[in-house]
Amino acid sequence: MVFIRKIRCLALLLFAGVASSFIPSQSLTKRQIPKSPANVKTITSPSGVTIRYKEPGKQGICETTPGVNSYSGYIDLSPTSHSFFWFFESRRDPANDQITLWLNGGPGSDALIGLFSELGPCNVTKANQTQLNPYSWNEVSNLLFISQPVGVGFSYAEQAPGSLNNETGEYKNSSQAPVEGVYPVIDPELVDTTDLAAVSAWHVLQGFYSALPQLASNVKSKEFNLWTESYGGHYGPSFFQYFYEHNQKIAKGEEAGIQLQLNTLGIGNGVIDELIQMPYYPEFAVNNTYGIKGINDTEYAFAKFALNRRGGCIDQIAACRKTNYTTPTERAICAQASNMCRDNVEGIYEALSDRNTYDVRENSNNTVPPEYWKKYLNRAEVQDALGVAANYSSGNSEIYYAFQASGDFVYPSFVKDMEMLLDQGVRVILYYGDADYICNWFGGEALSLAVNYTHATQFRSSGYAPFLVNGTDYGAVRQYGNFSFVRVYEAGHLVPYYQPLASLELFRRAIEGRDMATGEMMLRDDLSTTGPPNSTRTEPFVPLPKETGEDGEPPKRLVWREGERKAEPRFAF
Ligand SMILES: *[C@@H]1O[C@H](CO)[C@@H](O)[C@H](O)[C@H]1NC(C)=O
Ligand SMILES: *[C@@H]1O[C@H](CO)[C@@H](O)[C@H](O)[C@H]1NC(C)=O
Ligand SMILES: *[C@@H]1O[C@H](CO)[C@@H](O)[C@H](O)[C@H]1NC(C)=O
Ligand SMILES: *[C@@H]1O[C@H](CO)[C@@H](O)[C@H](O)[C@H]1NC(C)=O
Ligand SMILES: *[C@@H]1O[C@H](CO)[C@@H](O)[C@H](O)[C@H]1NC(C)=O
Ligand SMILES: *[C@@H]1O[C@H](CO)[C@@H](O)[C@H](O)[C@H]1NC(C)=O
Ligand SMILES: *[C@@H]1O[C@H](CO)[C@@H](O)[C@H](O)[C@H]1NC(C)=O
Ligand SMILES: *[C@@H]1O[C@H](CO)[C@@H](O)[C@H](O)[C@H]1NC(C)=O
Ligand SMILES: *[C@@H]1O[C@H](CO)[C@@H](O)[C@H](O)[C@H]1NC(C)=O
Ligand SMILES: *[C@@H]1O[C@H](CO)[C@@H](O)[C@H](O)[C@H]1NC(C)=O
Ligand SMILES: *[C@@H]1O[C@H](CO)[C@@H](O)[C@H](O)[C@H]1NC(C)=O
Ligand SMILES: *[C@@H]1O[C@H](CO)[C@@H](O)[C@H](O)[C@H]1NC(C)=O
Repeated sequence: MVFIRKIRCLALLLFAGVASSFIPSQSLTKRQIPKSPANVKTITSPSGVTIRYKEPGKQGICETTPGVNSYSGYIDLSPTSHSFFWFFESRRDPANDQITLWLNGGPGSDALIGLFSELGPCNVTKANQTQLNPYSWNEVSNLLFISQPVGVGFSYAEQAPGSLNNETGEYKNSSQAPVEGVYPVIDPELVDTTDLAAVSAWHVLQGFYSALPQLASNVKSKEFNLWTESYGGHYGPSFFQYFYEHNQKIAKGEEAGIQLQLNTLGIGNGVIDELIQMPYYPEFAVNNTYGIKGINDTEYAFAKFALNRRGGCIDQIAACRKTNYTTPTERAICAQASNMCRDNVEGIYEALSDRNTYDVRENSNNTVPPEYWKKYLNRAEVQDALGVAANYSSGNSEIYYAFQASGDFVYPSFVKDMEMLLDQGVRVILYYGDADYICNWFGGEALSLAVNYTHATQFRSSGYAPFLVNGTDYGAVRQYGNFSFVRVYEAGHLVPYYQPLASLELFRRAIEGRDMATGEMMLRDDLSTTGPPNSTRTEPFVPLPKETGEDGEPPKRLVWREGERKAEPRFAF
């Protein structure tokens, strides 16, 4: 089946208006306004893309391993497209190791969440120092982080002094509210679907690769991996499918560009298809493998009723899927379905449980992992070292709501994209931390079994094998050939934070083309795990932990629970 996609012309992105240059006014609180970074280097690639960059590692920031280079700054595609990137050479063999792009989800969540909290070369301590992560994925691969779409993190169309409205997250300029910093100014409707984000991401990547010989001339590999998370369950399949199509066009000489050898697509705790995954929210809330009942029987019954009733969540997603996802009416039908499902099915636990959305073992009021890195990125010397003149926020609400308004959450095309990629031999790895609610492994498992590609029957009849690392059992793997599903034990949403050693090993096995369960065999097309059809391991009940702030500071509130910030988006980051 072919889904007609709304691809707006990239020309819009490239030529929509000229950036108004940012001129700080004397009346503003100068102290809060980031200064232009000093000594930024600029490269212009043969295709005319500019890269402005600095080397933060040389100033003691993040990747300080001797001899390991890192570069951060902007890929400028046009006067209104400036994508923040941070590239880390591999600690192993940068010249020959593959290149992996990491993206977080959201929509609107920044890739630096993954960098500092999960798989990057460092995290940030309370004392505002970076600390090396021995399990960083650049132990085995070159690693590229890109903040996308434009408007996320340090990326911007334009940027100007202002603040973010604390109710809606919207940018307010200096005449609307007191200035607190410099923020991205975007038209959030320009890129408001995953498929449109794929087009932008392709151009940003092409820009990066065109300048790479000048940026890091030693890095040569064209083997490319995309690893992503959460809403990345949408991004990953769509982006890779788009990249695949354009590789083909380049190969046929139909368009200019650099072909990427698409090696692996990794998706951690992904939301790939809401129709398939939605029914598992109420189930996981009350009957997970931690013996935790997160909502009571009334709440559970409400969520189930909302899911299945006539005109309820399932019916509304089905109604969306009868459209072409194009006209304002069609988009509204899809947006209505995603709102209905989120508020009445998924959201019951999120709004009413004492338990955390991203880790059922945690208190709903606690922030895990610590987020010192967010304030760290709002320090003048750090901004200067990264080559940015902007304030940081890890989630862009305008982008979140624009995607919500387009109905992108419940679009059906991402499973189709995965099926196509699997049939083309791309290795796809779905991994799920088993304590996460928001993209829980029950739904992930159901998704993996629903994927209908050439070897679906063999995949479904492959049993669960233990995911062994040096004799320790970290999870359960179902694998057939190039497709695997991994349940990772004792991990919340941000899997590499909870299981750093196992995650690095999972990543290494995947990109090196080894079997996921043991890492001891090279992959064959007919390699199949054996074991029971269900992963039944349970963990002991975890009593509700007390509220803890970061290091004994006053507990942090999830403000939307207190009715203060009801508009706060629930990022699937
Ligand atoms: C914005 O960044 C500057 C440093 O350039 C900092 O002084 C200011 O506090 C930041 N603003 C916010 C709201 O974090
Ligand atoms: C940083 O990572 C170290 C382990 O590498 C861990 O012990 C520490 O808790 C982490 N700190 C933060 C703030 O995430
Ligand atoms: C770390 O930096 C943030 C932002 O500048 C600041 O608010 C905080 O007090 C600093 N922490 C320490 C321990 O210096
Ligand atoms: C939000 O902004 C309003 C108006 O500027 C202010 O009164 C309020 O204290 C702010 N709330 C928070 C949580 O910052
Ligand atoms: C702020 O935005 C408003 C509404 O778009 C506009 O009228 C005003 O001129 C802007 N002020 C500045 C300083 O850009
Ligand atoms: C919990 O799930 C298990 C496995 O699906 C099932 O056997 C059991 O009946 C469920 N328990 C309840 C109380 O729903
Ligand atoms: C469940 O909690 C709700 C509040 O969210 C309460 O109104 C209801 O009575 C409770 N039901 C049961 C069976 O405890
Ligand atoms: C979707 O678009 C196709 C091709 O333009 C058209 O034939 C079909 O009727 C459209 N479907 C709906 C529900 O509008
Ligand atoms: C979370 O914080 C709110 C507001 O202070 C409080 O009412 C609630 O009991 C806390 N929840 C838990 C599970 O600690
Ligand atoms: C699965 O794929 C096959 C072959 O492409 C197709 O005939 C079949 O209808 C598909 N089944 C579902 C449930 O989509
Ligand atoms: C497994 O153990 C060996 C020997 O102790 C060690 O060299 C190796 O790094 C370990 N592998 C992992 C993935 O921890
Ligand atoms: C076991 O897995 C199969 C799919 O392989 C599923 O249909 C079935 O419901 C599962 N059984 C239990 C008890 O979870």
